[in-house]
Amino acid sequence: FNSHFIESVQPLIELIDSLRLIGIDKDIDLPSIAVVGDQSSGKSSVLEALSGVALPRGSGIVTRCPLELKLRKLKKGPWSGTISYSGGHNETFYDPLKVDNLVREAQNKLAGSKVGICDKLISLEISSPDVCDLTLIDLPGITRVPVHDQPDDIGDQIKNLILKYIAKSETIILVVVPCNVDIATTEALRMAQDVDPEGFRTLAILTKPDLIDRGAEIDVLNIVQGKVIPLSKGYIIVRCRGQSDINNKIPLSKAMEMENNFFRNHRYFSSLLNDGKASTRCLADNLTKELVDHIKKSLPYIIEQIQTKLLSVQRELKNYEQGPPLEEELMGPFLSDIIMEFSDQINELGKTGHSKEKN
Ligand code: GDP
Ligand code: NA
Ligand code: MG
Repeated sequence: FNSHFIESVQPLIELIDSLRLIGIDKDIDLPSIAVVGDQSSGKSSVLEALSGVALPRGSGIVTRCPLELKLRKLKKGPWSGTISYSGGHNETFYDPLKVDNLVREAQNKLAGSKVGICDKLISLEISSPDVCDLTLIDLPGITRVPVHDQPDDIGDQIKNLILKYIAKSETIILVVVPCNVDIATTEALRMAQDVDPEGFRTLAILTKPDLIDRGAEIDVLNIVQGKVIPLSKGYIIVRCRGQSDINNKIPLSKAMEMENNFFRNHRYFSSLLNDGKASTRCLADNLTKELVDHIKKSLPYIIEQIQTKLLSVQRELKNYEQGPPLEEELMGPFLSDIIMEFSDQINELGKTGHSKEKN
């Protein structure tokens, strides 16, 4: 980022952070980023690269509940994670390697240990100096054919779950499409276009550029450049860790270096690196910018929601007897009145065995 960008962005990120700190996100939808795509298109891999957090992933249905990943950048201090989900589960831990198991355990508790899905949210908050301030939501992938003992309508169940998240106007939609499938038939893109026809909050991510068939590179280049299906926010192409990288225990930092080399030396894609259309680093920068734009646009709406909430609380408050004064200097007299009245009542009770009628 250039310094001007940081200056203009930082206050907004801090505003959102302080709103989150007072728990406002329980009542009001703050902007977040949801990833949608077919099963095994690389959604969890993209989130992993963005967050630096190793998430459960692999072939088949791995993500079975919505996973909210709240990344909080610390100025300094050690890595810490807190996982929470319904049923009162809440655990704070300090080893990033525990994430994978804890998320799987949460999914098993919420969605059963097989291949079922569930719309209950698992929330994972990660604080570290090495993350960027983003809230990301990993969602189950779209499938058509039920496997094992999945119900016949599993496809619709998953789509409804995805819709719940992407329909919110505060959600930035990341549509994840592998380079080696036909983008025109991508269900996730269609769903995003349904809820966001103008494409104001939809960004497409092309994954697995290392698996493109020889000769198809030009087609992919045309897609990234928006010549096939134009999108107002456009495309970014990323290369994440493949199964063999994981088997070889390639760390995320090394993987990002490999990604950069991959694009820099690529016969067709090297120019995309300079155009800001390739690499996870570029995706992260882009998303922060998107998020800030989105926050700016959402602020009037958030203010409106706060005011509505405030009005209804004030109305509710009126139903109760006189509450504590808002001015601090009136607090002392207010409390002493209460104590006096209480002691009157106790006296009366001691004398007569009945409490005094309140005046
Ligand atoms: P999800 O089901 O959409 O969450 O997909 P995952 O992130 O679990 O990825 C599915 C598989 O694709 C995993 O084995 C990943 O390692 C692999 N994968 C993801 N991105 C890439 C990539 O850029 N290149 C290669 N070769 N494999 C990838
Ligand atoms: Na998967
Ligand atoms: Mg996944």
